[in-house]
Amino acid sequence: MEVILAESAERVAERAAELIRILLEKKPDAVLGLATGSTPVALYAKLVALHKAGRVSFRRVTTFNLDEYVGLPPAHPQSYRHFMEEHLFRHVDLAPERTHLPDGRMANPLEAGPDYEAKIRAAGGIDLQILGIGGNGHIGFNEPTSSLGSRTRLKTLTGRTLEDNRRFFAEGEFQPTLAVTMGIATILEARKIVLLATGRGKADAVRNAVEGPVTCVCPASALQWHPNATAVVDPEAAEKLQYVDYYRSVLDIQDGLVGKFGEYRV
Ligand code: F6R
Repeated sequence: MEVILAESAERVAERAAELIRILLEKKPDAVLGLATGSTPVALYAKLVALHKAGRVSFRRVTTFNLDEYVGLPPAHPQSYRHFMEEHLFRHVDLAPERTHLPDGRMANPLEAGPDYEAKIRAAGGIDLQILGIGGNGHIGFNEPTSSLGSRTRLKTLTGRTLEDNRRFFAEGEFQPTLAVTMGIATILEARKIVLLATGRGKADAVRNAVEGPVTCVCPASALQWHPNATAVVDPEAAEKLQYVDYYRSVLDIQDGLVGKFGEYRV
């Protein structure tokens, strides 16, 4: 897996925004896979700024988010639809009908997965998928022990994830324990994957994902099977990586090649 060692969390966001800007320059009707959570907030702020500066347009873009809680209406402040509206959608020129999240309110939530997969297929698949990583190595809501061949489906959240996300819910407020999430196999079908990780709390998960064995115990380790996956990490999240010198040397060499071969390199 390619590892980009960014100088700070701010640079992680800048690098990821640049990857998206370059993609949209080449393919204005690209299909983006998006994530929620704290990590991509800075990325979305950069994209909004690039849009307001006239440097990127989302007019023809289609988006698919990784996941959505079961049982929260879209307008609920903790729903992922609401999160995306607040941080990105309403600030840019995305067509609302081309923004997609799994439907966590279907009468039968078991149907939400196949329905979402069909929509992704109909859009031609995902060109670039943004991922965060859970402290336990989850991607989307594919918790440890999720099948590496999983497709979009209903998933029960672990105690650790519920605990990590409790900060977003008020004392005593209903916190969903179920979500509909893209599966690991669904994520791996994206043409390019960019995993963002910032902060010391992610150091173990990043090490396990990038340098550990491929195992369902760390779902992000499945990205090692992807031919075009990049992890963009800040110094704290990179703290436990063993091969940092190697990653740095690769980046130095690539910097010399940018413009020659570097279609996604920044
Ligand atoms: C969000 C998602 C999750 C988060 C992960 C990290 O759509 O699918 O996998 O990316 O839980 O969350 P933060 O960024 O809040 O640490």
